[in-house]
Amino acid sequence: MKWRLRRAVPEQTSEPLVPSRENLPGHIAIIMDGNGRWARKRGLPRIAGHHAGMSAVREIIRACDELGVPCLTLYAFSTENWKRPRAEVEYIMRLPEEFFRTEIEELVDRGVRVHFIGDLERLPRYTLDIVAKTLEQTQHNSGMTVNFALNYGGRADVLAAARRYAERVQAGQATWAELTEETFSRCLSTDHCPDPDLVIRTSGEVRLSNFLIWQAAYAELWFTDVLWPDFDRRELHRAIADYQRRKRRFGGLK
Ligand code: IPE
Ligand code: IPE
Ligand code: MG
Repeated sequence: MKWRLRRAVPEQTSEPLVPSRENLPGHIAIIMDGNGRWARKRGLPRIAGHHAGMSAVREIIRACDELGVPCLTLYAFSTENWKRPRAEVEYIMRLPEEFFRTEIEELVDRGVRVHFIGDLERLPRYTLDIVAKTLEQTQHNSGMTVNFALNYGGRADVLAAARRYAERVQAGQATWAELTEETFSRCLSTDHCPDPDLVIRTSGEVRLSNFLIWQAAYAELWFTDVLWPDFDRRELHRAIADYQRRKRRFGGLK
């Protein structure tokens, strides 16, 4: 009888609860989608979903840090999201203030280095202030890197990199002959990180929505119907465990 009870536990879970520490993705990038639907399902305004999404951000940073994932990029606001109603955009733009006010202490304790990618110039003053403060408060940290993609667009990133490279040529710091995938990548906003190994999108949509289009050229993609505010450590572990079972060939025959 005792034996049967013991056997029953591992049989209930077909997937490992915690992914292996070997072969972890060096960079996980997440399209945090489904906040609006999460709220609507509960009869709440869309902004309540954006607010609830902050808890998932906290949980996923903790989980990645505890696993030893060196780099995490979170798509928080795209260059296309300005098309939304003004009040929703403004609400989203105010969230970093609240998020970093409550999280900065823990982020610093964990040694997390925060970066922001995207065109920050268009952000309102109050968002820029917290961006600057967070960059400053985490600049000497040497632990995990977390990139918040704010007013980020993959095409804009590639275009800005092209411009940056041309400027370097003009200034005599580089030549056209030296332009390679490698030197071009160094002009992108993710210069400080390796390319993402795993891109996760929540909420059931199966597209990249202009996220890291250059950098994710050979990333493993993982989609889930779970809405972002419900995305938790368990789901993340499931995504990573699935990633670890995949065979990456990069065009070869391994
Ligand atoms: C993702 O959730 C957050 C942002 C794009 C800012 P959505 O707001 O897109 O939520 P859905 O997709 O409408 O449910
Ligand atoms: C992508 O989600 C952008 C972010 C998660 C920040 P959207 O909800 O804006 O994407 P679409 O409109 O479904 O492509
Ligand atoms: Mg969406």
